[in-house]
Amino acid sequence: MSTPLLIDTHCHLDESSFEHDVATVIESATTAGVVSMLTIGTTRESSERAVALAEQYESVFAAVGIQPNYVAEAKAGDWERIVELAAHPRVLAVGETGLDKYWDHAPLELQADYFDRHLELSQAIGKPFIVHNREADAEVVEQLRRHGKQGSLRGVMHSFCADQKTADTCLELDMYMSFAGMATFKRNDELRNIAGKIPADRILVETDSPYLSPHPMRGKRNEPARVALTAQVIADVREISIEEFSKQTTANARRLFGFPG
Ligand code: NI
Repeated sequence: MSTPLLIDTHCHLDESSFEHDVATVIESATTAGVVSMLTIGTTRESSERAVALAEQYESVFAAVGIQPNYVAEAKAGDWERIVELAAHPRVLAVGETGLDKYWDHAPLELQADYFDRHLELSQAIGKPFIVHNREADAEVVEQLRRHGKQGSLRGVMHSFCADQKTADTCLELDMYMSFAGMATFKRNDELRNIAGKIPADRILVETDSPYLSPHPMRGKRNEPARVALTAQVIADVREISIEEFSKQTTANARRLFGFPG
């Protein structure tokens, strides 16, 4: 039996915890059947590092943006640099962007302003966007809805962990839904059930590594190779084989982001 081919649609390979062994981490992902990875920038500097990794490794592509928790620290010229980087051929998406009411690192109005900028940039350059939503379901949906009126939305709810109602609304807005290691945690039956019901042409998987390591590796540094653990758990609730589920999520990732293959 061949290894099912997976795409990790959200990881942070530029984080300092990968500093000494990123080549090995990418290699073990490849061995585990991860054909492509999308490394996500969270600041200007992080986005620059993400693009550099995408230039260096064939299976790595980048997304560039300023994550909501970092918008208050953005300096003059940072946004312009993101716009510039977004045009790079190895950059497949804009983000991550969105709203975060959990950490409260930046005023919500400033987060919303940057969310708008990312959505407009995505539309202007024809590359999809990646949404980070932490305890801001209503506000995120409202802002997406507003943008949806100006044309169809092409984006993903990354590491989805809100409720069924929010999932339904995001699907109505044409969003893709991506699930990370949280869907494997023991107590998260509700999230698993939501993942189990996402239409087959709209579901994605990711690691969000180095964070959110899936069960049974919870608490350890996460890496793209472990996307298979999450995919297996979701395939099980969907009552399909990992091969079939991988085929679906990989096709979806290629359709949304334009990964080669
Ligand atoms: Ni992330």
